[in-house]
Amino acid sequence: MKQKIILDVDTGFDDAVALLLAGHHPALELAAVTVCHGNAPLAVTVENTRRVLAAGGLGHVPVYAGAERALVAPPLKTDPLQHHRFDLPPAARPLERQRAAEFLIDYYLSPAGPETVLVPLAPQTNLALALRLEPRLAERCPRLVTMAGAYLEGNSTPSAEFNILADPEAAHIVFTAGWPLTMVGLEVTAQAYVTPADLARLRALGTPWAALAADIFEPHLRWWQTEMNWPGGQIYDACAVAAVVDPALLTTKPMHVDIELGGAFTRGRTVADAIGWHRQPANVDVGVGLDRERFLAVLLAGLQ
Ligand code: RIB
Ligand code: CA
Repeated sequence: MKQKIILDVDTGFDDAVALLLAGHHPALELAAVTVCHGNAPLAVTVENTRRVLAAGGLGHVPVYAGAERALVAPPLKTDPLQHHRFDLPPAARPLERQRAAEFLIDYYLSPAGPETVLVPLAPQTNLALALRLEPRLAERCPRLVTMAGAYLEGNSTPSAEFNILADPEAAHIVFTAGWPLTMVGLEVTAQAYVTPADLARLRALGTPWAALAADIFEPHLRWWQTEMNWPGGQIYDACAVAAVVDPALLTTKPMHVDIELGGAFTRGRTVADAIGWHRQPANVDVGVGLDRERFLAVLLAGLQ
């Protein structure tokens, strides 16, 4: 039986690849998509989500718009490469009328809820709003696999990863809700770099969704090579989806993780008791290792 999955996204080049992977991998059933502010203002992330789904043969998947702003934090400056609407035709399917938080509550209280893994790939505002409205969400959702955080070094600041820093108060609500939470952070997404040779294998699959994923990722791959001198580029959000398909590609360690809400230099940090010296109860399974070949196998199998 296929694993039902809901993605919460801020599309975004890597969210786009994650959507195509979740929608086409034979082991998954993409039940719905909720959208948050993040990489760009909500109007752009919603439009990009709908265009990617339509162009990627997933026009049947319902899309719910969520929060325009973080709970408290001001909007972050984001990568200008991410600000434009994708050059793809508009979607035919209308946006759902219900807002993301209300949809998540209704869905997870329905019989399908306990069978559906939630995959947050954006600032966690929609999830926090839903949890505050309906705390039973944390009992009904069987598992979250989120691309968020870093237990060593962030990408928005040396302390903080983008999805957490964009709404630390929301992340605090999500990380303390008591549900089974797997964190796919920057330490493991960095191990899943995708090289030009991998991109060529993706294109060679010959499907429209593989071509779309490759077209969207390619300028970012060039950025990783020229600006960061890496052998390949990260497709952060696709790592979380791949870890739902094949949990063994991710090595995890249970840790106590707090979200830093103050701090002159450390706001938004996922403060992890990584070694376990402090003997606090673990609330997160933190990704500490990723098998790149297994990740690529899931990506290629999903987009073929
Ligand atoms: O830090 C990486 C995350 O921030 C990804 O989810 C990416 O889409 C950006 O939003
Ligand atoms: Ca994202």
